[in-house]
Amino acid sequence: MTKNSKSPVYVTIGDSVSKNHVFLNSIITNPNINVGDYTFYHDLVDPLNFENYNAAYFPSAMSEQLTIGKYCSIAHGVLFMSSVVNHHMDGSTFPFAVLWGAEKTGYDYYFPQKGNTLIGNDVWIGCEAAIMPGVTIGDGAIIGARSVVTKDVEPYTIVAGNPAKKIRHRFDTETTQQLLTLKWWDWPNDIVIANASHIVKNNIEELLKITPLRN
Ligand SMILES: CC(C)(COP(=O)(O)OP(=O)(O)OC[C@H]1O[C@@H](n2cnc3c(N)ncnc32)[C@H](O)[C@@H]1OP(=O)(O)O)[C@@H](O)C(=O)NCCC(=O)NCCS
Repeated sequence: MTKNSKSPVYVTIGDSVSKNHVFLNSIITNPNINVGDYTFYHDLVDPLNFENYNAAYFPSAMSEQLTIGKYCSIAHGVLFMSSVVNHHMDGSTFPFAVLWGAEKTGYDYYFPQKGNTLIGNDVWIGCEAAIMPGVTIGDGAIIGARSVVTKDVEPYTIVAGNPAKKIRHRFDTETTQQLLTLKWWDWPNDIVIANASHIVKNNIEELLKITPLRN
């Protein structure tokens, strides 16, 4: 992956390397977390803590996974929850079996699982949003600051609030379909950069002319 940066980890903004922005996949070590190229995380304190704070609930010993696509923007304090750390809810929620073992407490470990969390490409997640377990967020979606996302979010849709509700679709159905077919995020990065102004302005006519699409 060709980064924009003088550093393999931090993002370069203007002429300086920002110690508050990281290309996420350069710092992930947990096999249960997969992040696509160019997705960055901004943290007001220390973005290197992402795995230990923002996505701390995907232990490698468990099976639930977090997948984040390419070219996503993840703002400060976003939390990704899993369900593998849920407590029993049939009686006391105190984790006796975890603290004293299943044999002594007569109760097995069992964590009802909601499945993997999947974030698409070109998703912008606002400051301190919480993405709850098992949710799928479609390509091009926007999540409002401090939202709590409990349900799947359709591609190119803006959601906000707690629980997050649809504010609006970003584009009409035809445009959304064209963007989902274009999948510009899968193009070579130099082509993406050369066409960034068309991508940002949603100039689909120009994007349709680009060579990789014809292959
Ligand atoms: C979601 C967001 C992009 C919507 O922006 P917008 O399209 O300009 O939306 P508006 O301000 O016109 O608000 C539209 C409606 O959504 C509501 N709304 C907007 N953001 C909201 C949020 N974070 N939580 C709850 N409701 C929200 C507004 O109250 C308004 O409701 P109404 O129609 O009932 O009056 C923006 O509000 C937001 O949260 N941005 C994230 C900012 C951020 O975290 N930046 C971090 C640095 S990158």
